Amino acid sequence: MTAERVGAGPTSAPAAGGFVTVARASEIAPGTVHVVEVAGRSLCVGLTEDGEWGAIDNVCTHDGGVLGEGELDDEAVECPRHGGRFDLFSGRVLALPPVMPVKAYATRLEGDEVQVEVPG
Ligand code: FES
Repeated sequence: MTAERVGAGPTSAPAAGGFVTVARASEIAPGTVHVVEVAGRSLCVGLTEDGEWGAIDNVCTHDGGVLGEGELDDEAVECPRHGGRFDLFSGRVLALPPVMPVKAYATRLEGDEVQVEVPG
C-alpha cells in the first residue's frame, strides 16, 4: 500500500520518478522531524501526528538553523535557533523571522521506506 503527499501543495501531481529512500518509517515517531542526507542534500523529513510525511530543505533561510533538529507542531517546523516556522509540505514561511521559503520535496511511503523525490 502506498501513501503519498506532494510537498509542493495539494494541486501538484505526483511525480513519476526520482524517489530515493531516506529513512525507515518504523524508526520515526509521529510529531517529529529528522535530518537526512540524500543525493548531496541535507533535508528535514517529518511525520505529522496525522500520519503525513513531508520533506523540506534542512537549512533555515533566516540564519542557517538546522530545521531537522527543530520541533514539529502540527504541520509547522520550528527552527531551533530563533523560532521561525516553515510549512512541512510547502516550505512557506509560517512565522518570522525568516521571510524566504525553503524548498519542499514530494514524499511517499513504500512499505517501511520513506522516500523523497530529489532532482536528478
Ligand atoms: S536561523 Fe532559523 S529562525 Fe533564525
